[in-house]
Amino acid sequence: MRQNFVAGNWKMNLTLPEARALTTDIVRLLADELPGARPQLVLCPPFPLLLAVGEVLGQSGPALGAQNFHQMESGAYTGEVSAKQLHSVGCQYVILGHSERRQHFREDNALLAQKLKTALAAGLQVIFCVGESLATREADETFDFIGQQLAEGLFGLSDAEMEQVVIAYEPIWAIGTGRTASSAQAQEVHAFIRQQVAAAYDAGIAANTTILYGGSCNAQNARELFSQPDVDGGLIGGASLKARDFVDISKSF
Ligand code: PGA
Repeated sequence: MRQNFVAGNWKMNLTLPEARALTTDIVRLLADELPGARPQLVLCPPFPLLLAVGEVLGQSGPALGAQNFHQMESGAYTGEVSAKQLHSVGCQYVILGHSERRQHFREDNALLAQKLKTALAAGLQVIFCVGESLATREADETFDFIGQQLAEGLFGLSDAEMEQVVIAYEPIWAIGTGRTASSAQAQEVHAFIRQQVAAAYDAGIAANTTILYGGSCNAQNARELFSQPDVDGGLIGGASLKARDFVDISKSF
């Protein structure tokens, strides 16, 4: 279902006391300032903090998400975490295809396609990230590159599986750099992504797909970005570590 949507990707930040304090502040601010209809909100802490953050969230609204998992269902994979385990501790969502995992952990489109199936089979919804590097943008190859990420990574899913996926457009040059895509740049790529979904599936599924923008999205620029017709919300890194900023972004529709 297409909906206004804000997810916080905490990456490898925060200790247990810090995570509890941040979550408590977010829940309190949301209760005070967004008591009625809200966008779908998701917090994605690191693995060791999931249970504690889930406990603080309770039934308050924001859902719990994780940042990664292993492609196999279970077994002898020392140090890894399964999608089923994430689901069993209360995760509804998981991020997949983030550029940091593609770059530092060599996750390619074929592996991501496999991981997608594992996540969906475990009952998780997936926030599937795509996005180009600065070199790719400057070479005028953004659409080809993202088209390939979608075709090879995502479009092996059935119609029903696609409904469990949120797509996030995250230009690598905008992540953690303070350099945000302009709303026109974001809209252009979001419209392209929706068009690709329509071509691979159908217009109804495309119209129902939630597409987020990520990359230096903050409380100052969120409203302008979210006002674009194909931008349904944001995947927020740095600014999701501050309760005030995360809640302000959640109010930017
Ligand atoms: P940023 O990160 O908001 O800190 O740029 C976004 C992301 O990596 O999801």
